[in-house]
Amino acid sequence: MKEGAFLSDIQTLRRRAREHIAQGAVTPGYHADRDTALRLLNEALATEILCVLRYKRHYFMAKGIHAEGVAAEFLEHANDEQQHADQIAARLVQLGGEPDFNPEGLTSRSHAEYVEGDTLEDMIREDLVAERIAIDSYKEIILYLGDKDPTSRRLMEDILATEEEHADDMANLLEDLGRH
Ligand SMILES: [Fe+2]
Ligand SMILES: [Fe+2]
Repeated sequence: MKEGAFLSDIQTLRRRAREHIAQGAVTPGYHADRDTALRLLNEALATEILCVLRYKRHYFMAKGIHAEGVAAEFLEHANDEQQHADQIAARLVQLGGEPDFNPEGLTSRSHAEYVEGDTLEDMIREDLVAERIAIDSYKEIILYLGDKDPTSRRLMEDILATEEEHADDMANLLEDLGRH
């Protein structure tokens, strides 16, 4: 880029775009370390899959007088996490990577844990903890991606915002339950 130039000159942009066209969306302007980005996104994918499984388990196991509203919330979150998993998987492919859906090693790739929980309160607490883990680890992923991969960063920022809502929902449910 010429000094003081805002954008690379058009000839350079056009020439670069013709190189390595099989890499699709990954252009010479992609500045993240691709292996690191793929690994981080696969860890986030594992986290989402685990959260789907945990929320599904909680949805089907929710029992007791307060269970109905809580179960509905669990199901809604399970569906959100499934959507996050799909979005991350699509992005992995776009980056020329492969989404890792292998059940083997899923729990160790995931940041959040799979805890079944005995009571409704246990379940909500475990979901809250898992959301809080996802929030902090996604923030770190977002910081890494920074300006190097703005599309993946924006995706993770959108997902992060939902996880914060999820954590807030679980904290409110826990508080409600404590009042009864
Ligand atoms: Fe999620
Ligand atoms: Fe969540």
